[in-house]
Amino acid sequence: MTTNVSVTVNGERYDVPDVEPRMLLSDFLRDRLGLTGTHVGCEHGVCGACTILVNGDSVRSCLMLAVQSNGKEIVTVEGLGSPEHLNELQAQFREHHGLQCGFCTPGMLMTGEDLLRKYPLATDEDIREGLSGNLCRCTGYQNIVAAIRSAAAKRSEKAS
Ligand code: FES
Ligand code: FES
Repeated sequence: MTTNVSVTVNGERYDVPDVEPRMLLSDFLRDRLGLTGTHVGCEHGVCGACTILVNGDSVRSCLMLAVQSNGKEIVTVEGLGSPEHLNELQAQFREHHGLQCGFCTPGMLMTGEDLLRKYPLATDEDIREGLSGNLCRCTGYQNIVAAIRSAAAKRSEKAS
């Protein structure tokens, strides 16, 4: 038996028919909505590559079923900015070389975004703890932490 899923993603409403009850939210975003910015690595909640925001909280979309997102508000990496207009966090990842292959980057950005929205004055320790559930095989994390720290500083400058 399939079901309909109605969800708002990056400000746009989607009404999607015929969703299998066992379909993961990560696969739903990628395969049914075409939002392939959300990456899938381990598919069991370890790597963090699939992190998105659901009703304002960071969530591993491989640990949630698509049907559980019915009626919810989702933000994926596509909702942060665009290649022409990066948001501050994305711009700081570029500035600080916070990515190499880029596979982990959508999850790092969404976790970083959640962290900065909830803890605008996050310290390095807070950032490292916040990122502890996101794995990167390339950068060694220093540049990712530096990018998030710099985005926090720039956001707080703008707010003051
Ligand atoms: S793909 Fe979801 S945590 Fe790894
Ligand atoms: S930049 Fe390659 S896995 Fe993180």
